[in-house]
Amino acid sequence: MKGIILAGGSGTRLHPLTKVTSKQLLPVYNKPMIYYPLNTLLKAGIKDILIIVAPEHAEDFITLLGSGSDFDARFSYQVQDKPEGLAQALILGEDFLDDESCALILGDNIFTDCLSKAVKNFQSGAKIFAKKVHDPERFGVVEIDVQGKVISLEEKPVKPKSNYAQTGFYLYDNRAVNFAKSLKPSVRGELEIVDLNNKYFELGELQAEVIEGQWVDAGTFESLHRASCIVREHELGMKGSSNLEVKIQKTQASKEGAKLTN
Ligand code: TTP
Repeated sequence: MKGIILAGGSGTRLHPLTKVTSKQLLPVYNKPMIYYPLNTLLKAGIKDILIIVAPEHAEDFITLLGSGSDFDARFSYQVQDKPEGLAQALILGEDFLDDESCALILGDNIFTDCLSKAVKNFQSGAKIFAKKVHDPERFGVVEIDVQGKVISLEEKPVKPKSNYAQTGFYLYDNRAVNFAKSLKPSVRGELEIVDLNNKYFELGELQAEVIEGQWVDAGTFESLHRASCIVREHELGMKGSSNLEVKIQKTQASKEGAKLTN
């Protein structure tokens, strides 16, 4: 399975922080935000990763993450000219995916769970990941049966049918590219991920799994702050062993060290 990280967008809710840089490069405690979704993919065993970036920040992402060798992985980059929606990532990633299934993660979503089992067990259809929240009306809300099949899926409903919010991690089989191509832009001019998920839902092939750990969508001042606090707690060992620990090989640092000593 290949991975796609959505690190484009405009980050307007974080202005003025995002006027000169990308949201996914902002610090979350002691690392750039994108390290966390990247780590979620790496910990799930996904090593071939496409990073979708906005044109004005492409260079910064390449400078930060490079080829992926420091992470024992392979990174590719795809510029998204305009933020025309999350589902556009599948279309932009068509050549990269090369008919393989895909794990899509939002570049501002932070998970403390290890999702490797879900990735390993995924066979076909689509799978979304849900988290119990106290304010479901702010999110995409999922209703799930005992077998993990999605019964209903609603965007920011006034009367939510469950307390389960849809998070920013998705698994798709190789039909997702063609489904994404068949979507029409919504009234806000975007190819919506909910419409892509609905394609699988209509076929009865949309599964959902509840995650047990913490999840933060760090796209607002409040949630960005909360994300930093969660990472800080994990870093300081207050929460025991952590899936947030990012393993970076020391090749770059030792190369620099070698240069200095020569
Ligand atoms: P959002 O938080 O929905 O959008 P945004 O980042 O543009 O922020 P704001 O609403 O404050 O203007 O996006 C979720 C994630 O997906 C985030 O990591 C940015 C990314 N994204 C893209 O890569 N391309 C897109 O076309 C969109 C809409 C979002």
